[in-house]
Amino acid sequence: MKVTVVGAGNVGATVANVLAVKNFCSEVVLIDIKEGVSEGKAMDIMQTAHMLNFDTTVVGATSPVDAPDYSATAGSDVVVVTSGMPRKPGMSREDLIGVNAKIVKGVVDQALKHSPNAIFIIISNPMDAMTYLTLKDSKLPRNRVLGQGGMLDSSRFRYFLSKALQKAGYPATPTDIDGTVIGGHSDKTMVPLVSLATYRGIPITQLLSKEEVDDAVAQTKVGGATLTKLLGTSAWYAPGAAAAAMVEAIALDAKKLIPCCVALDGEYGEKDLCIGVPVILGKNGMEKIVEYKLEGDEKAKFAESVAAARDTNSKLGDALK
Ligand code: LAC
Repeated sequence: MKVTVVGAGNVGATVANVLAVKNFCSEVVLIDIKEGVSEGKAMDIMQTAHMLNFDTTVVGATSPVDAPDYSATAGSDVVVVTSGMPRKPGMSREDLIGVNAKIVKGVVDQALKHSPNAIFIIISNPMDAMTYLTLKDSKLPRNRVLGQGGMLDSSRFRYFLSKALQKAGYPATPTDIDGTVIGGHSDKTMVPLVSLATYRGIPITQLLSKEEVDDAVAQTKVGGATLTKLLGTSAWYAPGAAAAAMVEAIALDAKKLIPCCVALDGEYGEKDLCIGVPVILGKNGMEKIVEYKLEGDEKAKFAESVAAARDTNSKLGDALK
């Protein structure tokens, strides 16, 4: 298993680091436009190999903007795209569309030339629109174009639910919680599914008040923005770990049920749109979309999320040509 991670910023370096520590890839190539950064981060990660006991080789490569060179990435099984601008405090993910569309398109074109069989995982924001752009631009089958958002948002949901349960007197940790977030990876319109959230199988609605549940949902939705405010830039540990978990499910053909962004073709009543839904991930990338019957107001919230994602896609403009 060879994996390329494009972009050696905080998120890209975290993906490479988590992949190395998990020790299931033969090679991870970290590539960036800035000379020295990916080489330095790859070397730094490799110098933990002895202490952390892994045999994955992490390699750094530079691909200058004016003379792209993706030769080091050739033959990758999975390409993770983290390139582009992260958001600053006060910005929405959607604000990044103009600048990141150009970057993502260039990256996907280059990566695909050298790894024609790769599965793509898009992290760059606004992620759902960047995934749609990748699908359209590459003309790849939809099973090979995935966006990372749902895994991250679900993990944040579990974290905030565990905090709420702790406050209510239950010593819950995030691993005790099941929770799924679907819809767009967007502050306003992601859809944490309260109906599916449990504490070791117990519906959280039996243990928490409506206010407590609503608060966990609200905190999940702005989870990325909260961190951007604290850090001055967008988060990286959880986004990086989420992408690495997707790579792992593909590499091990694990058939894991992971919420992520994929193109819908009739599922959930939608077509020609990339948005977060529960997906089984295995060696072919998306192996199956699991259709879940949305309950109560979840259906209306998912519809709102779909409308917002379509609106963002409409701003891709020339990038789609
Ligand atoms: C976040 C960014 C990576 O949610 O979208 O932290």
